[in-house]
Amino acid sequence: MFRKMWKQKVMMVIGLFLCSLLLGAYGGNLQLAEGSQTVEQENVEFQEHGDKKGILVISFGTSYADTRKVTIEACEEKIAASFPDYEVRRAFTSSIIIKKLKERDNIQIDTPEEALNKMKDEGFTKVIVQPLHIIPGLEYEEVLAVVNNFRGSFKELTVGRPVLYGIEDYKQAVEALKQQLPALDKDHAVVLMGHGTTHPANACYSCLQSVLNDEESNVLVGVVEGYPGIDNVIAKLKRNNIKEVTLMPYMLVAGDHAINDMAGDEEDSWKSILEREGFKVNIYLHGLGENNSYQEIYVQRVQDCIDGNPLGIEEE
Ligand code: CO
Repeated sequence: MFRKMWKQKVMMVIGLFLCSLLLGAYGGNLQLAEGSQTVEQENVEFQEHGDKKGILVISFGTSYADTRKVTIEACEEKIAASFPDYEVRRAFTSSIIIKKLKERDNIQIDTPEEALNKMKDEGFTKVIVQPLHIIPGLEYEEVLAVVNNFRGSFKELTVGRPVLYGIEDYKQAVEALKQQLPALDKDHAVVLMGHGTTHPANACYSCLQSVLNDEESNVLVGVVEGYPGIDNVIAKLKRNNIKEVTLMPYMLVAGDHAINDMAGDEEDSWKSILEREGFKVNIYLHGLGENNSYQEIYVQRVQDCIDGNPLGIEEE
């Protein structure tokens, strides 16, 4: 019985000690009478301070390390430097490229779904998904579909828009393109090689051409897979009496399409076709991701997400 009382005393002392610790943790300003409100406010503040914010940058990907570094990585780094409160992650949409990088280079890259799952597991609360894609085509829709499966997994989840979306975006893209255009004279044209798609967003390339034509410009848009093809472009070049052509990829990276389909020595590359047609051909083998102004476009897309205007809708 004596032992039991001793034990009770010890428990009481420990209990009081713990209570004082808890009260001490709130500091001197906690008044128990209005405690509930104070604690609630502190919780809200804690949640905001405790937000784990991330930006998932998604691109098709490329297996060419050189261009990956100066395009995709450069864009990711620019975004990371512009938003230091956010942790920047990477995902590729192409499973073929992911597989190739893993098998050949032992580089592990996440799919958008894997990346979002990791961010969910690691307790991210605010996530911005920014695609580096050019048009709102099949891959962009795929990204939207994946993101939809994560609604409710984060406090905030926003997807930025690709380069060509609203009409102001086209004007911005044309301005940004000027940074990489050579000096053009009457018989020298630039031919952009876009990717092209079976998706209705293929019309983006014709809209880009239209916005380019709003100013006097010798820049023509063609695509590898879709309309307008190189034949349509050649017809226009001839109508405009063009003698010299500079070929440029209108793609994020100067990867397989740019190196082979555009600039390759195979007889069906655009370079070979144009040379056979009698044009002098110059090659500009740099992806849009290398262009500072395009990097800046992606930064602005992210900023629009933060500002609650991911689609960049202009106020009337
Ligand atoms: Co392709």
